[in-house]
Amino acid sequence: MLDDLRTPIVLAPMAGGPSTPELTAAVSDAGGLGFLAAGYLKADALGERIARTRELTSAPFGVNLFAPGAPTPPEHFADYLAEVEREFPLGTARFDDDDWAAKLALLTDSPVAVVSVTFGCPSADEVARLHAAGSEVWVTVTSVGEARIAAEAGADVLVAQGAEAGGHRGTFIDRPEDDAADPLTTLALLQLLTAATDRPVVAAGGIATGAAIAAVLAAGAAAAQLGTAFLRCAEAGTAAVHRDALPIDVPTMLTRAFSGRRARGLRNRFILDHPDAPAAYPEIHYATSPLRAAARAEGNPDAVNLWAGQAHVLATELPAGELVRILSADTKSALKLAVSRRIQDC
Ligand SMILES: Cc1cc2nc3c(=O)[nH]c(=O)nc-3n(C[C@H](O)[C@H](O)[C@H](O)COP(=O)(O)O)c2cc1C
Repeated sequence: MLDDLRTPIVLAPMAGGPSTPELTAAVSDAGGLGFLAAGYLKADALGERIARTRELTSAPFGVNLFAPGAPTPPEHFADYLAEVEREFPLGTARFDDDDWAAKLALLTDSPVAVVSVTFGCPSADEVARLHAAGSEVWVTVTSVGEARIAAEAGADVLVAQGAEAGGHRGTFIDRPEDDAADPLTTLALLQLLTAATDRPVVAAGGIATGAAIAAVLAAGAAAAQLGTAFLRCAEAGTAAVHRDALPIDVPTMLTRAFSGRRARGLRNRFILDHPDAPAAYPEIHYATSPLRAAARAEGNPDAVNLWAGQAHVLATELPAGELVRILSADTKSALKLAVSRRIQDC
């Protein structure tokens, strides 16, 4: 798939609103690879979005799934939710598998060019089913160990998600005890993966310009995957409060406060108030859903999960297709500039 793209630019799947058929189709039509996010959607809603994307474009696109995790015992998060509930009304904390089996069945019946998976690795059997349907399988990884598991399961492409990335970390198992070690940055992870595996690597995290795309291509990536850079495009379904916050120069932070899974978002009061939120996904995601929806509706950025990568101030309001074309041209210029630098034999 990657070899067939006119430009090595991949639209990151962005569940929870930003991902739309219009955004996906615009990126694929411009010569990149658009992705539809399937996270939080039931299989029938995903089927409708795939059908709508097919109406908008005849170009290939991908669909991204959340691999299911395991339920967390309520006693692990009860105190945290009681603390949050002192200030906000909460929904019911519950576990589900994000309709995994039904979505896999949908995608094997009505295949798309690429199925990517985050939050874990599909089994070798599941990968084989997707391959038999004609899809490539990409798996998001954050470490060399995860890359080895993905390659073993038959993944065609590794999506290297660096620490800079906006949104949830794709880590297979989210363990607070691992927080003491810094997560690998995009460039470090990319170098480690190209040294350790023979699979093509798509680099993600903090990439917002043609120069940064050029950097990861030079470091061995087959393509760059950008999320935050597309959040302000007209075709994205990004909430107004989120869109408006992106150009503001505030730092991003990693947090479990909103969802119970580690994610990077713009620093706001809710994140600062809950630095020790436990790992319990999707239970905490469901519990905080009403407070996030209310804050979005009120335009209150202090209680919304404003997922964003570290280069968020560079996100522009250009139409997505134009953004792909500009990024492509800037990538070429940056690569030419790099080649023109004098490097003497030493
Ligand atoms: C708003 C938002 C939602 C995201 N949702 C998903 C998702 O549904 N599935 C997924 O694999 N990655 C998701 N990500 C992570 C992206 O795939 C990617 O790793 C990240 O956007 C790259 O970093 P960048 O935002 O700095 O470009 C999301 C990121 C953002 C910003």
